[in-house]
Amino acid sequence: MSKVTVVGAGNVGATCANVLLFNEVANQIVLLDIKEGLAEGKALDMTQTASLLGFDSVIKGATNDYLATADSDVVIITSGIPRTPGMTREELIGVNAGIVKGVVSNVLKYSPNAILVIVSNPMDTMTYLTLKSTGLPKNHVIGMGGALDSSRFKAYLSQALDANPNEVEGLVIGGHGDTTMIPLTRFATYKGLPVASILSAEKLDKVVADTMVGGATLTALLKTSAWYAPGAAASYLVESILKNQKKVIPCCVYLEGEYGQNDICIGVPVVVGRNGWEKIIDYKLDAKEQELFEKSADAVRKTNNILEN
Ligand code: NAI
Ligand code: 2OP
Repeated sequence: MSKVTVVGAGNVGATCANVLLFNEVANQIVLLDIKEGLAEGKALDMTQTASLLGFDSVIKGATNDYLATADSDVVIITSGIPRTPGMTREELIGVNAGIVKGVVSNVLKYSPNAILVIVSNPMDTMTYLTLKSTGLPKNHVIGMGGALDSSRFKAYLSQALDANPNEVEGLVIGGHGDTTMIPLTRFATYKGLPVASILSAEKLDKVVADTMVGGATLTALLKTSAWYAPGAAASYLVESILKNQKKVIPCCVYLEGEYGQNDICIGVPVVVGRNGWEKIIDYKLDAKEQELFEKSADAVRKTNNILEN
């Protein structure tokens, strides 16, 4: 038996819960929100799709009732405000820091051993805040950003290659921000072939640029931030945890010297399994990639400092 709580029944949280349910990632899912009736309503609606979609997992909604979340194996935090057009993820910090801190403290009262997956933005700083304010083991705190950014990278790559996205490999590391993420083109492959040997430099540069503003492009279209790929990306990460799949997924984790950084949560490729993030994979960046990673870390630190001040 496995239990997952999703805090925040808005666009990302509800989508994530729906994917978890449909894919039977956990037996039991709790969706919680602060808005009276919202989580209950969405959970009831999803429950009524069981005989249509053929899943056996169950979902329950709750309004701010953390007792309902007790003994969760994984808790996904999506509560907070999303960005609107023209807004950066970093600008959300004032409101979301208070929400995330309060939610995490409530969650841990009932599920002290849960693995926490942080989605709320600015995600790198929210992950750092969660780790520092709780003293949880570092492997139990995972920020979700790289899974999403990598899926966008693979989507843009597959379009440029006119290929099936499932045949394309690609990783995005660094911060989860328009200017801080680093799509690693050198390691991107199409059925084992380096994409740089198939696509022109101009086409590859466009893929990188489109990936980096992937979230902003969607925000401009939707007037709020995206939810289908973010919700699916969080579920993908949780599936690797609960089913101990040991997938290598770029996640925001606490670094202690790895990739040349200390005392920061930022995206690097990690093995994800039943113990949370279990191991950092060292991709041996070249000098240019390392420089980009250092710049990205500087920018994430700047946002962390806003929080501390
Ligand atoms: P949304 O506004 O649709 O949903 C947020 C929900 O959180 C609302 O239903 C709200 O009532 C709830 N909430 C607020 N305070 C709460 C509290 N104290 N306790 C419980 N629930 C509370 O927003 P959306 O689009 O779902 O985005 C959620 C967050 O995820 C945003 O911060 C957004 O920027 C972030 N995000 C992060 C991504 C990533 O890759 N890390 C991708 C997409 C969004
Ligand atoms: C996204 O990347 C805004 O973080 C959100 O869609």
